[in-house]
Amino acid sequence: MQNAGLAALGLDWRYVAFDVSPENLREAIAGAKAMKFIGLNLTVPHKLLALDMVDLLDASAHTWGAVNTIRFEAQDARGAWQPLHLLEESPKEIRTHGFNTDADAIARAIREDLDLPLRGARVVLLGAGGAGRAAALKLAETGASELHLVNRTRSKAEELAQEIQQRHAEVDVRVGYPKHAVELLVNATSLGLKSGDALPLDDRAFPLRNVDAVYDMIYRPAETPLLRAAREEGCRVANGLGMLLYQGAKALEIWAGRPAPIAVMRAALEQNVYGE
Ligand code: ATR
Repeated sequence: MQNAGLAALGLDWRYVAFDVSPENLREAIAGAKAMKFIGLNLTVPHKLLALDMVDLLDASAHTWGAVNTIRFEAQDARGAWQPLHLLEESPKEIRTHGFNTDADAIARAIREDLDLPLRGARVVLLGAGGAGRAAALKLAETGASELHLVNRTRSKAEELAQEIQQRHAEVDVRVGYPKHAVELLVNATSLGLKSGDALPLDDRAFPLRNVDAVYDMIYRPAETPLLRAAREEGCRVANGLGMLLYQGAKALEIWAGRPAPIAVMRAALEQNVYGE
C-alpha cells in the first residue's frame, strides 16, 4: 500500500518493515533518526511505549494516548521545523514528532465506506477493549448523538461509558442494547476473526433489522458472519480494510505533505490482503 502510494507520488522512498522487540524500541527510533529516515509507523505493542520516546507529541497522539506515526524533522535556515526531505542542507539536529492516525481512520472509513454522516448518528458499539475505546471516543468527538456500549465484560463497558460521559457530556451514552433502531452498528470485538466464531451481537436482544449500516473492524475474513447476516438483512456494510487504508494514507500525507493517492493505495492493499 505505502510503496504503491510512494510510486504514484513519484517519490524515490521505500517503505520497509522491521521486526523490533519492545526493549529495543528507543534504540531503533534513534537508529532511524541517525540514518535520516523520513518517518516511521509503529504497531502493537510500540504505540503506547513510543509516547515517552518522541520529542514532540501532536494533539492526535496526545488525545488518543498512542503514537503510530513518527516524522523526523529539522530546522530550516529561518529556524522553522520541517520534514527532512524539504531541507537542502544536512541537518545538525533532528527531532522526532509523534502522531496518531488510527482514530481519524475509523471516522473516515465509516463516513466514506458506509456513506454515513456521523453527526447526529445513533450507534451501537460492540466491544470495549483498545479498539472499542478508540472508536467510542472518536464517535463521540465526531458528533454521534447516542452511543450504546455492549461488552462481554459489562464492567469494562461501564468504565468506558463513564470516560466518554466525562469527556463528551453532550453525547447520550448508555450500556446495553437500545430498544429503538439506530443508524450504525460497529463491531470492535475480536469475534469473527476465527471461523466458527459466534456473532458478536445478541440478535434476539437487538435484531439487525434495527440497523441501517454495519461496520466490522475485522478485515480478514473479508466477510465475517456479522457482515454476511447484515448484508442479507439489507444493511449497508463495510469491513475494517478501510481503517488500515486510511491510517496509512494519513501517515503518508504527514510524511510527504501532499494528498495520498487513495485509489492506488486501496488497490495495492486489496491485492496484498485478498489477492492470490
Ligand atoms: P483490541 O485491541 O482489538 O480491542 P482487546 O482490548 O483485547 O483487543 O479487546 C477485545 C474485545 O473483544 C473485548 O471487547 C472483548 O471482550 P471482553 O472485554 O469481555 O474481554 C471482546 N471479546 C473477545 N473475545 C470475545 C468473546 N469470545 N465473546 C465476546 N467478546 C469477546
